[in-house]
Parts: sequence; structure tokens; C-alpha cells
Amino acid sequence: MNCMSSRYTLKPVRVVCNIVIGNDKKLIEVKPLLYLRERPQPLNFFMIWIPRIDEIPLSIADFDEGRLRFLYKVKGDGTMALTKHCKDMIIGIKGPLGKGIGIKPAPNTRWLVVAGGIGIAPIPYLIRTYKNYGINVDLLWGVKTADEIFNIYEFFPDTKGSKTIIVTEDCRYENGYCGTVIDVLKHIEPKNYDGVIAVGPKGMLKAICLELHKLNPYIGLETLVKCGMGICGSCYVKALDKLLCTDGPVFRCSEVLEHLKASDTNC
Ligand SMILES: Cc1cc2nc3c(=O)[nH]c(=O)nc-3n(C[C@H](O)[C@H](O)[C@H](O)COP(=O)(O)OP(=O)(O)OC[C@H]3O[C@@H](n4cnc5c(N)ncnc54)[C@H](O)[C@@H]3O)c2cc1C
Ligand code: FES
Repeated sequence: MNCMSSRYTLKPVRVVCNIVIGNDKKLIEVKPLLYLRERPQPLNFFMIWIPRIDEIPLSIADFDEGRLRFLYKVKGDGTMALTKHCKDMIIGIKGPLGKGIGIKPAPNTRWLVVAGGIGIAPIPYLIRTYKNYGINVDLLWGVKTADEIFNIYEFFPDTKGSKTIIVTEDCRYENGYCGTVIDVLKHIEPKNYDGVIAVGPKGMLKAICLELHKLNPYIGLETLVKCGMGICGSCYVKALDKLLCTDGPVFRCSEVLEHLKASDTNC
């Protein structure tokens, strides 16, 4: 079996821990029982098989010495069932899936990463990987309410060294800004960055693409993903004529702006 086929094979993993971080998020760490052949790239995702319930896509939040970590927010049956999985229980994973970020910026360049809400999920692994390449990363993380915030450096120590700017819509986080990430972009001179990567709700992504169109940011998109391997067509993005699960989830603003404009920005 080669590497390409093994990414689509369901692999059993043992839960190491599954803890609450922030008010509405959990962090699950798993250890594969079989050797994981392919090292994930930032913004790759995995299909997480929750026995007898469902299979759901989650982005890789961190990877080290064969251990994988996923950061998730409870939305429905699948994510709720995942919260019930504790130490030593077995679930399954397929991946790494998708193309991930697909670029390796030059050392000593400076990148701005913008996350909205649970869009923070893939960011720790992105920062960690880019730090290892010698790239400087500043994180701008926007949330609706201050209780969504967790200390990224505490749970992901390898992100230390990056600068984090937090912005809340309820204005209840005193060490951050008040408003949205778009309000903050006006203060931080995005043109001083060599590139921008954004992950979050469609409304935020659309606003970033419009505000920073000269930089043509990289955007982590979400659609409905069912098989994760290019078979079922449920992740088809009509405006791009592409499948998110095999061609994405990262696209340039110039490719996705029409799709973002056409979409319901509340989801
Ligand atoms: C490539 C990719 C990577 C993702 N990475 C993460 C991650 O790291 N952490 C995380 O918390 N979530 C992530 N998601 C979203 C996550 O997959 C969904 O929240 C999850 O599948 C919901 O499953 P559920 O059974 O709990 O809820 P369901 O009962 O399936 O749905 C509950 C509600 O959530 C909405 N929903 C379901 N799937 C999605 C989706 N893909 N996008 C937007 N809304 C959705 C439904 O419309 C419904 O309103 C990712 C999605 C994709 C496509
Ligand atoms: S999720 Fe099935 S083709 Fe993409």
C-alpha cells in the first residue's frame, strides 16, 4: 500500500485526553495505533469516525511525535458524541485530507493569520510549522464573546514567539480590541505583511477578501464534507467548479470571492 492509499484508509486511534478549553470548545488528543505514514500539512483535515454515530471533518490543530490534536466546537450529534469519548476509547481517522495550505513562504517573511471563532482550530499547527520554517507569524483572532477565548500559548506551547491580537465583539476582554477583525485591520497596516491567511465564517472571509484584495489572501473554506475523498460530490463549490475536499480547503480570495458573495454570510 502506498502513501496515497493510506490517507484514505480508516485508522484506529486511542484517545489520550478530551478536555474543555474556552467556554465552547474542546481539545481532543489521539494516538494512532498504526504508524501514520504521512505527516500532515497545515490546514489539512481528517475525517473523524465516531463509532455508531457519524464521520465528521476536523482540521489538524497540532501534530507531534505521532499524536494528533483536534480543536472542536459542539454543533450537533457528531461533535456532541465526540465529547463523550475519554481516555483509552478508540475512534477512527482518515487523512491527512485536502491539499492544506500548499505554500511554503520564504524564511524571514512576515505573515498575518486571521481567525474568526472556531476558525482558530487549524492555526496552532500552522504557526508551529511556519515558525520551524523561520517565518514570522502574527495572529489576529476575533470572537463574538470574551468567554470563547483560551490561552493559545498554554495549550499549544509551540506557538510561543508569535504575536497574538484578540478582538471581541462584546468588548469584555480588556487586553484586546473591541469590535471585529475588520475594525482591527485598519490599525495594523496589513500592507506590511508578505501574505495573509484567513480561516473563519464566510461573512468574515468575504470582508477580508474585499478589504485586503491587493494582498489576495489565502482563505480556508468550509462546505459540507461527507466522504472527504472526492467521491460523493457533497463538497462541490460551484463557483470554482472544484471539490473542497480534494482541491481545497485553501483557495485564494481571487478564486472564491464570487462564491463568498453568493453564499449566506450567516453560516
Ligand atoms: C474541511 C473542514 C474542516 C473543519 N474543521 C473543523 C475544526 O477543526 N473544528 C470544528 O469545530 N469544526 C470544523 N469543521 C466543521 C465541522 O466539521 C462541523 O461542525 C461538524 O461536522 C458538525 O457535525 P455535527 O454532527 O456535530 O453537527 P450536524 O448535526 O452535522 O450539524 C449541526 C449544525 O452545524 C452545521 N454544520 C455542519 N457541518 C458544517 C460545516 N462543514 N460547516 C459549517 N456548518 C456546518 C449544520 O448546518 C447544522 O446547522 C470543519 C469542516 C470542514 C469542511
Ligand atoms: S466530501 Fe465527498 S467529494 Fe468532497
